Parts: sequence; C-alpha cells; structure tokens
Amino acid sequence: MTQTWSLAVGRDDLSRAKILERALPPLDEGEVLLRVDRVGLTANNVTYAMLGESFRYWDFFPAEPGWGHVPLWGFAEVAESTVDGVEVGSRYYGYLPSASHLVVRPNRVDARGFRDGSAHRAELPSPYNVYALTTNDPTYDADREDLMVLYRPLFYTSFMLADRLSDNDFFGAKSLVLSSASSKTAYAAAFLLRGGGAEVVGLTSARNVAFTQGLGCYDRVLSYDAVHELDPGMETAYLDLAGNATTRASIRAHLGDRLVHESVVGVTHQDDVGAEALSGPRTTVFFAPDQMRKRKQDWGREGLDAAFAEAWHRFIPAVEGWVDVVEGQGPEALRSTWLEVLAGGVDPRQGHVLTV
Ligand SMILES: NC(=O)c1ccc[n+]([C@@H]2O[C@H](COP(=O)([O-])OP(=O)(O)OC[C@H]3O[C@@H](n4cnc5c(N)ncnc54)[C@H](OP(=O)(O)O)[C@@H]3O)[C@@H](O)[C@H]2O)c1
Repeated sequence: MTQTWSLAVGRDDLSRAKILERALPPLDEGEVLLRVDRVGLTANNVTYAMLGESFRYWDFFPAEPGWGHVPLWGFAEVAESTVDGVEVGSRYYGYLPSASHLVVRPNRVDARGFRDGSAHRAELPSPYNVYALTTNDPTYDADREDLMVLYRPLFYTSFMLADRLSDNDFFGAKSLVLSSASSKTAYAAAFLLRGGGAEVVGLTSARNVAFTQGLGCYDRVLSYDAVHELDPGMETAYLDLAGNATTRASIRAHLGDRLVHESVVGVTHQDDVGAEALSGPRTTVFFAPDQMRKRKQDWGREGLDAAFAEAWHRFIPAVEGWVDVVEGQGPEALRSTWLEVLAGGVDPRQGHVLTV
C-alpha cells in the first residue's frame, strides 16, 4: 500500500480546500503509478477550476462528490509500473492532479512518452492526456525545469493564439489588444506578435502597468480605465484574457464596428465575468487544441513540434529575466499557494512552483 494525499477544493466554493490522505491499493495490470514531483500554480489553474463543470476539467482527476482536484502542469516520476516501456524512475511532463500521486493506464507508449488511456479520460481533449518523456523532448532542459513547469502550457496557448491571428491576417485588425496583459499567457503572445505588422497593446490593472511596460513586448500598455485612449478609427482585435465584463463593454462601446474580432482566451477577473461574454457579433472562444488540430493537418505533427520548439527556444532566454520563481514544498504549501493565487493579487513577477 502506498500512502498518498491530495488537495481537494469545493466545486461551489473554491476557497474551501482540504488535504485528504489515502492508502492506494496495489496496481492492476496495465497501470502505472506516477509520483507527482514539481508543479506550477498560476491563474490558469484557477480558470480550470472555475470552468471545471462546463469544460469538464473536474473529470480528469475525479474526487468525492462536490469536491475537485485542481489540474496542474508539471513533472512526475514513475514510482511503480506494470507496463513495458514505462520504466520506474523515468520522468514525464504532463497534466497532473493537486495530489502526491496519479495512477495512469498508458497506451500508445513510444520513445516520446505515452497517453493515459484510462476510461474516464477517453472523451476529454487529447492534448491533456499526453505524458512526455523528458529524455526525448526537444524543449526539455534539466536546468530550466521551473520555466517549463510554469510556461510550457501557457506558451503553447500563446503560440497557438499568435499563430491563429497571423493565419487569419489578424482578422483585418491593425491593432491587437490583450487584456490581463501582465499574465504569462498574454505577454508570451505579445512577445510572439510584436513586430508582426499590427500594433500590440496591453491592458492591465493600474498596479501592474509598470511591470507590463518593463517587459518590452507591447508597443503600448494602458490601464483598464484608459480604454478611451485606443484609436477608435483603427480596426482592432480584442484578445480577452481577463474576461472582465466592464472592460469588454467599454471596448465595444468605444470601438463600435472597428472592433473586427473578439476572442475570449481566459477569465482571470473571476469577480466580474459577465454572462454576455460570448454574445458579441464577432466573438469566438479561443481553445488552443482547436488551432493545434488545424496545424497538425497543415504541417504534420513533426512540423508543429519543430515550429513550437523554435518559438520556445526564442522565448525562454527572454522570460528568464521576467519571473522570480517562488518555491513551496508539501501539501500545506500547495494549499496556501492555491488560496493565494485564487484570491488574486499575486505580483506578476512571481511564479509559484511547488515540490509535492
Ligand atoms: N484558452 C486557452 O486555451 C487557455 C490556455 C492557457 C491559459 N488561458 C487563460 O489565460 C489566463 C491567464 O493565465 P496565466 O496562468 O497566464 O495567468 P497569470 O500569469 O497567473 O496571470 C496573473 C495576472 O492575471 C490577473 N489576475 C489573476 N488573478 C486575478 C484576480 N483574482 N483578480 C483580478 N485579476 C487577476 C492579473 O492581471 P491584470 O492585472 O493584467 O489583469 C495578474 O497579474 C487564464 O484565465 C487562463 O485560463 C487560456
């Protein structure tokens, strides 16, 4: 029996967070036990929890009724294995629960890793079921694991978002406006978009303007109360990571039909998300796996991996100077960091990494 623990949060009140302990029974044939090692915690994980029911994020790592395990990204090591090709001690990057361990049922095992073929994950978006073996991953660098823990899934989204915009000639926009511009996902997208033919404008909270300007990846940075400084004569696309209803309404009113495209990418502003978020005439929801599927068809899997690796290797040296990694260890640190990130107000320079 292996002693395990997990952090479970109340689905209807994400600030209820408790540590549960459990002894795991021996593995069945076909199963592998992963020991969760190092994970990141950002606003993205809060969004998974907020959208846990509607986007089925709670279904990846089932918990007792009314409770959920928050999905996290990071590294895990194989603690026990009944599967050939998945060796004890090997290290994988992937989607992990807020817990010390995860039992997976690997299929499609190859030199790059495996997919969890557990029945309850079969209908869930496939990119979340992939576990990449560190030894064959072109983006892996043992000295930069923390950057991978924090940025890899976010940068994938940024990469796909920037690609979708250029793939569609920016939907006719000459100006690209990103909200929650201080978030990692937004500034990574700005990093990729800047200099690509359209102006890149960041919208952020007044307290985060200086940080966001300092990154140097936006042409202009405005606070949320300066939306009127956007050029009302210029075709504009709004890439909305904040999900803030008030900001969205101001932008729609100020730009009118010059707002040629709106894309809802995130909902960091949990307390002002309006029900009309998706009701605009040009509004689409951005879901990275959709563009990923398109590019797999256009470029093949190898071509997509190579394009991503090239962008990643350009981004990583830049981002090293933009983030201070804050480390925590163990269940209580995971719980307190969850509550801190959930409450907002984390300095955008900080990136929380936890050793489980
Ligand atoms: N669609 C997709 O496929 C996809 C994939 C990845 C990420 N995303 C989304 O992108 C968003 C950003 O994620 P991230 O991990 O990059 O964020 P992050 O780096 O942790 O972002 C921190 C920033 O988010 C804002 N924020 C966070 N919590 C807040 C709160 N409680 N109240 C008000 N503002 C808050 C603040 O920015 P400001 O002051 O600048 O507003 C803060 O500086 C998330 O909603 C995430 O789910 C979407």
